[in-house]
Amino acid sequence: MKIALIGYGNMGKEIEDVIKTDGKHEVVSISSSTKGWDEAGIKSADVVIDFSSPDVIMENIQKVLGLGKNMVIGTSGWYEKIGKVDGLVKETGTGLIYGQNFAIGTNIFFQLVALASKLAFKYGQYDVYGTEVHHSGKKDSPSGTAFKTAEVILNNFPSKKKLETGRLDRKIEAEELHFASVRGGRNPGMHEVTFDSEADCIKLSVQNHSRRGYAQGAIMAAEYIIGKKGLFAFDNMFEI
Ligand SMILES: NC(=O)c1ccc[n+]([C@@H]2O[C@H](COP(=O)([O-])OP(=O)(O)OC[C@H]3O[C@@H](n4cnc5c(N)ncnc54)[C@H](OP(=O)(O)O)[C@@H]3O)[C@@H](O)[C@H]2O)c1
Repeated sequence: MKIALIGYGNMGKEIEDVIKTDGKHEVVSISSSTKGWDEAGIKSADVVIDFSSPDVIMENIQKVLGLGKNMVIGTSGWYEKIGKVDGLVKETGTGLIYGQNFAIGTNIFFQLVALASKLAFKYGQYDVYGTEVHHSGKKDSPSGTAFKTAEVILNNFPSKKKLETGRLDRKIEAEELHFASVRGGRNPGMHEVTFDSEADCIKLSVQNHSRRGYAQGAIMAAEYIIGKKGLFAFDNMFEI
């Protein structure tokens, strides 16, 4: 499989390294703000993987789908525009898969949070909240994974109806789900969900040790999207 990379920062370099080490696929093109936009290389690729920036992701999606190429999107911070992206995918007859977190362990975590939310709501007097920690270089907050985790809780814990991610200068409402972000250091990503009751406290957390798992998952998504049409979410591949 010939792969074009858009974004050549932490993740672009990690994906290139996994591809070189595995020897199964080939990187035929790299675009970034310093390297420029390699349209000829993108045209020659079977699939495009984008780990760039929330500032440019919509423009990149329009340009790549406009060239009729299927895409894997790892870049976060654009999910409120999912309807527009779905329209572009249909218009161009292409395939696009996105993931807030491509690490296998995090996708297992999403399934565990869904199950725990259902059980905690059904059997206990639990409250639920979330926290996430990322390295100091991360540009957006909360993380895409935090949004996804919150969505999983809201879909499975019926008394929580609204996500609150900001600083609170008041008491939280019972129907609000608080998900807080911390930035600093070098952590590639930690997410934790706490179910707390008078009797006990259950914590589910996932700590990504490195960016390797994200890169491996993105390549798995690229293999999946080849030859497909439509919009796909990576976490759907893990539903049981
Ligand atoms: N889904 C997941 O599993 C997952 C995992 C980790 C990170 N992420 C997300 O992936 C994104 C990238 O993360 P990162 O850590 O690799 O960031 P990073 O180290 O800051 O790298 C971003 C890259 O995007 C490039 N870029 C900026 N503007 C561009 C443009 N107009 N066209 C093409 N490339 C452009 C930058 O180019 P220059 O270097 O030339 O400036 C840089 O190479 C972030 O949104 C992050 O949240 C997702």
